[in-house]
Amino acid sequence: METLDSAEAWVQWGVGYFAQHDIYFGHGTNNALDEAAWLVLYALGLPADKALNDVPQPLSPEQRGAIRALFERRVQTRKPAAYLINEAWFCGLKFYVDERVLVPRSPIGELIVNGFAPWWPSEHPVNRVLDIGSGSGCIAIACSYAFPDAVVDAADISPDALAVSAKNIALHRLEGRVNAVESDLFSALEGRKYDIIVSNPPYVDAEDIASMPDEFRHEPQIGLVAGEDGLDFAIRILQDAPRYLTDDGILIVEVGNSEAALAERFPTVPFMWLEFEYGGHGVFLLTAAELVQYHEAFLAA
Ligand SMILES: C[S@@+](CC[C@H](N)C(=O)[O-])C[C@H]1O[C@@H](n2cnc3c(N)ncnc32)[C@H](O)[C@@H]1O
Repeated sequence: METLDSAEAWVQWGVGYFAQHDIYFGHGTNNALDEAAWLVLYALGLPADKALNDVPQPLSPEQRGAIRALFERRVQTRKPAAYLINEAWFCGLKFYVDERVLVPRSPIGELIVNGFAPWWPSEHPVNRVLDIGSGSGCIAIACSYAFPDAVVDAADISPDALAVSAKNIALHRLEGRVNAVESDLFSALEGRKYDIIVSNPPYVDAEDIASMPDEFRHEPQIGLVAGEDGLDFAIRILQDAPRYLTDDGILIVEVGNSEAALAERFPTVPFMWLEFEYGGHGVFLLTAAELVQYHEAFLAA
């Protein structure tokens, strides 16, 4: 195997190696081929979008050793590749990540690159956006690219996560346009009004937590765990959001597999469950008017 001398050959080798060790994909890639290619290019110091057949060959013994070592760390530690190389991609943007934040993967990215159209009309200006549970800052920062005139607040309760989002805000030179705010959901945001509130809060229920692959155990549990039915944070957001939305504002929240539990808990509420071209589920949208209309139902929960 040490004589494999092209990047493509190493990717193929990696696919077989990963299959033997039954690792889980879903933190930045969703298959062995993309994961192996990502690691090979990183080990060679090349951009993640470099075509494999353009990589000069034969690879040197040092290059082969670097690829092999990275593959072995992936299999032995079961750490998501993003943590091994401190890099993740979201909305076509590069982010620094480490084990203080979840690896970016929310389907909300697809909504952001479309400017939340058609739910937010493109001619309608966006002044303020709030991202609750901002982790690496990926959603807040992508929103800032989508709405260059808006001020974006990136709120998280975890000082560790806020340190990572501050690093990403600086890497993207968005200081002053994206603000990292330490806040327990809305607690530090009293009096502010947002056109768009977006959140990928913790939403994993007790049953899913117990059965997660090892890769998830490297992620901060504060970013995942959300009580017996996964709704602890979503319900608090539904209760408080109307106070923080402009009259024609919208709320978008990801609850993943807890979609069924939420719909069952509030059978009268017309959650709009959004559809995704590139995969993902369990993301709903409600307007400020709907949140006001169903406020009593949310408070009664
Ligand atoms: C599922 S992660 C999402 C991270 C990031 N937005 C993303 O999409 O990759 C949830 C985040 O919510 C944060 N969080 C947990 N409890 C919170 C709370 N009470 N208030 C604010 N943020 C909270 C966690 O620290 C974590 O960063």
